[in-house]
Amino acid sequence: MSRAAVHSCTLNTGAKMPAVGVGCWFQRPVEAENQETYDMVANALKYGYRHIDTAFGYGNEQAVGKAVRDSGIPRQEIFVTTKLTNSYHGKVQQGFEESFKALNIDYIDLFLVHWPQGEDPETGKTIPKGQSPTFVDTWKNMEKLVGPRCKAIGVSNFSVKNLEILLKEAKVVPAANQVESHIYLPQASLDKYCKDKGIVLTAYSPLGQPASGKSSPILDEPLVKELAKKYDTQPGTILISWVAQRPNWNTVPKSSNPARLKANFEIVKLDQADHDALSAIHKESGKTTSLVDYAEKMKKERVVFGWSVEDMGWENLD
Ligand SMILES: NC(=O)c1ccc[n+]([C@@H]2O[C@H](COP(=O)([O-])OP(=O)(O)OC[C@H]3O[C@@H](n4cnc5c(N)ncnc54)[C@H](OP(=O)(O)O)[C@@H]3O)[C@@H](O)[C@H]2O)c1
Repeated sequence: MSRAAVHSCTLNTGAKMPAVGVGCWFQRPVEAENQETYDMVANALKYGYRHIDTAFGYGNEQAVGKAVRDSGIPRQEIFVTTKLTNSYHGKVQQGFEESFKALNIDYIDLFLVHWPQGEDPETGKTIPKGQSPTFVDTWKNMEKLVGPRCKAIGVSNFSVKNLEILLKEAKVVPAANQVESHIYLPQASLDKYCKDKGIVLTAYSPLGQPASGKSSPILDEPLVKELAKKYDTQPGTILISWVAQRPNWNTVPKSSNPARLKANFEIVKLDQADHDALSAIHKESGKTTSLVDYAEKMKKERVVFGWSVEDMGWENLD
């Protein structure tokens, strides 16, 4: 097996963001001091990970921060991303302060607007697209955060359509955009657009978001299994290596299982022909598709957390 070193993407701020990080969403709400999160992040740092992805919405920023502090690894060697939750679109500074306090790690490397759609904190209802606070209003307040405590700002779940709206008004170009991506959803148009604008892409759900101990359509892909044999590794590692080898991309697979967590970081260098073959799979009939928890509802109702697929700019995902 030819193991590949985990390189870094360079953000438009000059900061380095490692190509493989650990995701901290547990597919269920967890408490602030969640032990499973603490153990996962502590193990990840032991195995060599230096990039951690969390969010206010995951509930576990406190446990993430404690694991980072307890690791004894110099702070500047670890890249930590967290995210502004939808109900804080109208109170960005407060959202940042709450995440900053919960993490308690001197500074946040990357603070993302988790979703383009805001939510009314009183009613819990999604704010219709274009109504105040719009994501442009939110972004203007995000821009004020950049400084010693917030090294970079970015977005998540933004399409080309919504990035175009944002960039018309932005003074600070987002450093990164975190979106679902894997071999069934390479996001070719977004890939090209973000490269042109100097925005790094982070792939979430690179394994297809299986339930713990279960499989996913991409983990079961015959070519993925065949390549796992060829490179003497596991299907998950092939999927993560595929993302990590895409220029301008990094990824944040989640595993709280120590063996899978370790294997996910041991990426291999795929031959170009194998990388190309994996990139082409989504062209097979019916295989360009989202695999995450909201995908079924999105396909049936054409709605994603209160916004239409058109509002999201997700009509033609490729
Ligand atoms: N910005 C956003 O809106 C957004 C949305 C979704 C996710 N995310 C971020 O992206 C991260 C990753 O995405 P995700 O959690 O949705 O999906 P994922 O990383 O594709 O899949 C995680 C699931 O796969 C299992 N798993 C991990 N490694 C495996 C392997 N080698 N073989 C087989 N199964 C494996 C995990 O179970 P075990 O833990 O038991 O191994 C877990 O159930 C999240 O944790 C979060 O940080 C962001």
